[in-house]
Amino acid sequence: MQINVSKNYEELCKEVANFIVDEIKELSSPLLCLAGGDTPLGVYKNFVESRADFKNAMFIGLDEWVGLDGADSGSCRFTLDQSLYLPLAIEESKIQFFDGKATDLSRQCNETNQLLETNGPIDLVLLGIGMNGHVGFNEPGSSLDSICRVVSLDETTQTVGQKYFETQQELKQGITLGLKQVLDTRTVILIVSGEKKRSIVKKLLEDEKIDPSIPVSSLWQHPNCHLFVDEVAYSE
Ligand code: F6R
Repeated sequence: MQINVSKNYEELCKEVANFIVDEIKELSSPLLCLAGGDTPLGVYKNFVESRADFKNAMFIGLDEWVGLDGADSGSCRFTLDQSLYLPLAIEESKIQFFDGKATDLSRQCNETNQLLETNGPIDLVLLGIGMNGHVGFNEPGSSLDSICRVVSLDETTQTVGQKYFETQQELKQGITLGLKQVLDTRTVILIVSGEKKRSIVKKLLEDEKIDPSIPVSSLWQHPNCHLFVDEVAYSE
Protein backbone atom coordinates (compact mmCIF):
# COMPACT_ATOMS: atom_id res chain seq x y z
CA MET A 1 0.00 0.00 0.00
CA GLN A 2 1.45 3.34 -1.01
CA ILE A 3 0.71 6.09 1.46
CA ASN A 4 0.30 9.68 0.43
CA VAL A 5 -0.24 12.30 3.13
CA SER A 6 -1.75 15.65 2.11
CA LYS A 7 -1.73 18.88 4.07
CA ASN A 8 -5.49 19.31 4.17
CA TYR A 9 -8.75 18.18 2.55
CA GLU A 10 -8.46 20.57 -0.41
CA GLU A 11 -4.97 19.34 -1.29
CA LEU A 12 -6.03 15.75 -0.74
CA CYS A 13 -8.92 16.03 -3.19
CA LYS A 14 -6.81 17.80 -5.79
CA GLU A 15 -4.15 15.11 -5.57
CA VAL A 16 -6.65 12.28 -5.82
CA ALA A 17 -8.42 13.90 -8.79
CA ASN A 18 -5.11 14.40 -10.62
CA PHE A 19 -4.00 10.87 -9.78
CA ILE A 20 -7.22 9.39 -11.21
CA VAL A 21 -7.08 11.44 -14.41
CA ASP A 22 -3.47 10.37 -14.87
CA GLU A 23 -4.19 6.69 -14.18
CA ILE A 24 -6.94 6.40 -16.76
CA LYS A 25 -5.61 8.68 -19.50
CA GLU A 26 -4.14 5.80 -21.52
CA LEU A 27 -7.22 3.58 -21.23
CA SER A 28 -9.59 3.56 -24.20
CA SER A 29 -12.69 2.63 -22.19
CA PRO A 30 -12.02 2.64 -18.44
CA LEU A 31 -14.43 0.93 -16.07
CA LEU A 32 -14.63 3.10 -12.96
CA CYS A 33 -16.22 2.53 -9.58
CA LEU A 34 -16.57 5.63 -7.43
CA ALA A 35 -17.83 5.66 -3.86
CA GLY A 36 -20.63 7.81 -2.52
CA GLY A 37 -20.33 9.26 0.96
CA ASP A 38 -18.90 12.62 1.96
CA THR A 39 -15.16 12.14 1.60
CA PRO A 40 -14.86 11.94 -2.20
CA LEU A 41 -17.09 14.97 -2.83
CA GLY A 42 -14.10 17.30 -3.12
CA VAL A 43 -12.59 14.98 -5.73
CA TYR A 44 -15.79 15.12 -7.78
CA LYS A 45 -15.82 18.91 -7.42
CA ASN A 46 -12.33 18.96 -8.94
CA PHE A 47 -13.53 16.78 -11.82
CA VAL A 48 -16.47 19.07 -12.48
CA GLU A 49 -14.44 22.29 -12.26
CA SER A 50 -11.77 20.94 -14.58
CA ARG A 51 -14.41 19.39 -16.90
CA ALA A 52 -12.59 16.06 -16.64
CA ASP A 53 -13.02 13.98 -19.76
CA PHE A 54 -14.94 10.81 -18.93
CA LYS A 55 -16.62 10.44 -22.30
CA ASN A 56 -15.21 6.96 -22.88
CA ALA A 57 -15.61 5.77 -19.29
CA MET A 58 -18.16 3.33 -17.92
CA PHE A 59 -19.28 3.63 -14.30
CA ILE A 60 -20.35 0.89 -11.95
CA GLY A 61 -21.93 1.58 -8.57
CA LEU A 62 -20.12 0.48 -5.44
CA ASP A 63 -23.09 0.22 -3.10
CA GLU A 64 -26.56 1.44 -2.18
CA TRP A 65 -28.84 1.46 0.84
CA VAL A 66 -31.60 -1.12 0.51
CA GLY A 67 -34.94 0.70 0.22
CA LEU A 68 -33.46 3.78 -1.48
CA ASP A 69 -32.69 4.82 -5.04
CA GLY A 70 -31.52 7.87 -6.94
CA ALA A 71 -34.73 9.74 -6.16
CA ASP A 72 -33.88 9.74 -2.45
CA SER A 73 -31.70 12.58 -1.25
CA GLY A 74 -28.77 11.03 0.61
CA SER A 75 -28.71 7.74 -1.30
CA CYS A 76 -25.42 6.75 -2.92
CA ARG A 77 -26.88 7.20 -6.40
CA PHE A 78 -28.31 10.62 -5.52
CA THR A 79 -24.91 11.72 -4.22
CA LEU A 80 -23.13 10.64 -7.38
CA ASP A 81 -25.83 12.13 -9.62
CA GLN A 82 -25.60 15.52 -7.93
CA SER A 83 -21.85 15.70 -7.54
CA LEU A 84 -20.64 14.05 -10.73
CA TYR A 85 -22.92 12.37 -13.23
CA LEU A 86 -25.30 15.27 -13.83
CA PRO A 87 -22.76 18.14 -13.76
CA LEU A 88 -20.57 16.24 -16.23
CA ALA A 89 -23.56 15.10 -18.31
CA ILE A 90 -22.61 11.44 -18.09
CA GLU A 91 -25.08 9.40 -20.08
CA GLU A 92 -27.33 6.96 -18.23
CA SER A 93 -26.25 4.21 -20.63
CA LYS A 94 -22.70 4.51 -19.24
CA ILE A 95 -23.82 3.95 -15.64
CA GLN A 96 -24.67 0.64 -13.99
CA PHE A 97 -25.99 1.37 -10.51
CA PHE A 98 -27.90 -0.58 -7.88
CA ASP A 99 -31.57 0.11 -7.39
CA GLY A 100 -32.07 -0.34 -3.67
CA LYS A 101 -35.84 -0.24 -4.20
CA ALA A 102 -35.91 -3.16 -6.64
CA THR A 103 -38.23 -5.97 -5.61
CA ASP A 104 -35.70 -8.56 -6.74
CA LEU A 105 -32.41 -7.54 -5.15
CA SER A 106 -30.72 -10.84 -5.89
CA ARG A 107 -31.31 -10.15 -9.57
CA GLN A 108 -29.52 -6.80 -9.13
CA CYS A 109 -26.59 -8.67 -7.63
CA ASN A 110 -26.57 -11.33 -10.35
CA GLU A 111 -26.61 -8.72 -13.10
CA THR A 112 -23.71 -6.86 -11.52
CA ASN A 113 -21.72 -10.04 -10.97
CA GLN A 114 -22.39 -11.00 -14.59
CA LEU A 115 -21.33 -7.60 -15.86
CA LEU A 116 -18.05 -7.89 -14.00
CA GLU A 117 -17.53 -11.44 -15.24
CA THR A 118 -17.92 -10.20 -18.80
CA ASN A 119 -16.43 -6.69 -18.70
CA GLY A 120 -14.32 -6.75 -15.56
CA PRO A 121 -12.15 -6.36 -13.75
CA ILE A 122 -12.79 -2.78 -12.76
CA ASP A 123 -9.92 -0.52 -13.82
CA LEU A 124 -10.06 1.86 -10.89
CA VAL A 125 -12.03 2.06 -7.68
CA LEU A 126 -12.16 5.08 -5.37
CA LEU A 127 -13.14 4.04 -1.84
CA GLY A 128 -13.90 5.88 1.36
CA ILE A 129 -13.39 4.10 4.67
CA GLY A 130 -16.18 3.67 7.20
CA MET A 131 -15.61 4.38 10.89
CA ASN A 132 -15.71 0.60 11.39
CA GLY A 133 -13.27 -0.03 8.55
CA HIS A 134 -15.86 -0.99 5.96
CA VAL A 135 -15.25 -0.47 2.24
CA GLY A 136 -18.40 -0.22 0.18
CA PHE A 137 -20.79 -2.02 2.51
CA ASN A 138 -18.36 -4.82 3.20
CA GLU A 139 -18.81 -4.82 6.93
CA PRO A 140 -16.49 -6.36 9.55
CA GLY A 141 -16.30 -10.13 9.03
CA SER A 142 -16.79 -9.92 5.23
CA SER A 143 -15.02 -12.66 3.33
CA LEU A 144 -12.18 -11.91 0.95
CA ASP A 145 -14.05 -14.07 -1.58
CA SER A 146 -17.28 -12.08 -1.36
CA ILE A 147 -18.96 -10.81 -4.52
CA CYS A 148 -21.97 -8.56 -4.98
CA ARG A 149 -24.66 -9.27 -2.40
CA VAL A 150 -27.19 -7.87 0.04
CA VAL A 151 -25.74 -7.42 3.51
CA SER A 152 -27.00 -6.57 6.99
CA LEU A 153 -25.43 -3.34 8.08
CA ASP A 154 -23.36 -3.00 11.20
CA GLU A 155 -24.74 -0.87 14.07
CA THR A 156 -22.02 1.72 13.41
CA THR A 157 -22.99 2.01 9.73
CA GLN A 158 -26.69 2.35 10.60
CA THR A 159 -25.93 5.14 13.06
CA VAL A 160 -23.25 7.01 11.13
CA GLY A 161 -25.27 6.69 7.90
CA GLN A 162 -27.96 9.00 9.31
CA LYS A 163 -25.64 11.94 8.54
CA TYR A 164 -26.59 11.73 4.85
CA PHE A 165 -30.30 12.23 5.48
CA GLU A 166 -32.51 15.04 6.70
CA THR A 167 -34.92 12.70 8.46
CA GLN A 168 -34.28 9.47 10.38
CA GLN A 169 -33.98 6.47 8.02
CA GLU A 170 -34.12 2.75 8.50
CA LEU A 171 -30.73 1.62 7.23
CA LYS A 172 -30.74 -2.06 8.03
CA GLN A 173 -29.37 -3.47 4.79
CA GLY A 174 -27.14 -2.50 1.91
CA ILE A 175 -26.27 -3.89 -1.49
CA THR A 176 -22.59 -3.85 -2.30
CA LEU A 177 -19.81 -5.09 -4.53
CA GLY A 178 -17.81 -7.71 -2.66
CA LEU A 179 -14.25 -7.63 -1.40
CA LYS A 180 -13.19 -9.99 -4.17
CA GLN A 181 -14.37 -7.51 -6.79
CA VAL A 182 -12.55 -4.70 -5.00
CA LEU A 183 -9.39 -6.81 -4.68
CA ASP A 184 -9.58 -7.76 -8.39
CA THR A 185 -9.62 -4.07 -9.38
CA ARG A 186 -6.46 -2.91 -11.15
CA THR A 187 -5.98 0.29 -9.19
CA VAL A 188 -7.48 0.88 -5.75
CA ILE A 189 -7.54 4.33 -4.18
CA LEU A 190 -8.53 4.92 -0.58
CA ILE A 191 -9.39 8.44 0.47
CA VAL A 192 -9.60 9.37 4.14
CA SER A 193 -9.92 12.73 5.82
CA GLY A 194 -10.60 14.31 9.17
CA GLU A 195 -10.28 13.77 12.87
CA LYS A 196 -13.09 11.20 13.05
CA LYS A 197 -11.10 8.82 10.87
CA ARG A 198 -7.93 8.96 13.00
CA SER A 199 -8.62 5.80 14.90
CA ILE A 200 -9.49 3.67 11.86
CA VAL A 201 -6.43 4.97 10.01
CA LYS A 202 -4.31 4.06 13.03
CA LYS A 203 -5.80 0.54 13.14
CA LEU A 204 -5.21 0.08 9.42
CA LEU A 205 -1.62 1.25 9.50
CA GLU A 206 -0.30 -0.10 12.79
CA ASP A 207 -0.20 -3.81 11.92
CA GLU A 208 0.07 -3.86 8.13
CA LYS A 209 -1.79 -7.15 8.09
CA ILE A 210 -5.21 -8.44 7.10
CA ASP A 211 -7.67 -8.46 9.97
CA PRO A 212 -11.19 -9.67 9.04
CA SER A 213 -12.69 -7.34 11.64
CA ILE A 214 -11.27 -4.40 9.62
CA PRO A 215 -12.35 -4.99 6.00
CA VAL A 216 -10.17 -2.21 4.58
CA SER A 217 -7.11 -4.09 5.85
CA SER A 218 -7.75 -6.69 3.10
CA LEU A 219 -6.13 -4.13 0.81
CA TRP A 220 -2.74 -4.92 2.28
CA GLN A 221 -2.74 -7.82 -0.17
CA HIS A 222 -3.48 -5.61 -3.18
CA PRO A 223 -0.48 -4.95 -5.44
CA ASN A 224 -1.60 -1.49 -6.53
CA CYS A 225 -3.38 0.22 -3.66
CA HIS A 226 -2.89 3.91 -2.85
CA LEU A 227 -3.98 5.43 0.43
CA PHE A 228 -4.52 9.19 0.24
CA VAL A 229 -4.96 10.67 3.69
CA ASP A 230 -4.83 14.17 5.13
CA GLU A 231 -2.54 15.12 8.01
CA VAL A 232 -5.39 15.29 10.50
CA ALA A 233 -6.51 11.69 9.85
CA TYR A 234 -2.90 10.48 9.69
CA SER A 235 -1.72 12.19 12.85
CA GLU A 236 -1.89 9.20 15.21
C1 F6R B 1 -20.34 4.94 0.19
C2 F6R B 1 -19.47 3.87 0.72
C3 F6R B 1 -19.03 3.88 2.13
C4 F6R B 1 -18.30 5.19 2.48
C5 F6R B 1 -17.78 5.18 3.91
C6 F6R B 1 -17.16 6.50 4.30
O1 F6R B 1 -20.65 4.68 -1.15
O2 F6R B 1 -19.16 2.96 0.02
O3 F6R B 1 -18.17 2.79 2.35
O4 F6R B 1 -17.25 5.38 1.59
O5 F6R B 1 -18.81 4.88 4.80
O6 F6R B 1 -18.13 7.50 4.24
P1 F6R B 1 -17.75 9.05 4.40
O7 F6R B 1 -16.88 9.37 3.26
O8 F6R B 1 -19.07 9.76 4.35
O9 F6R B 1 -17.05 9.16 5.70
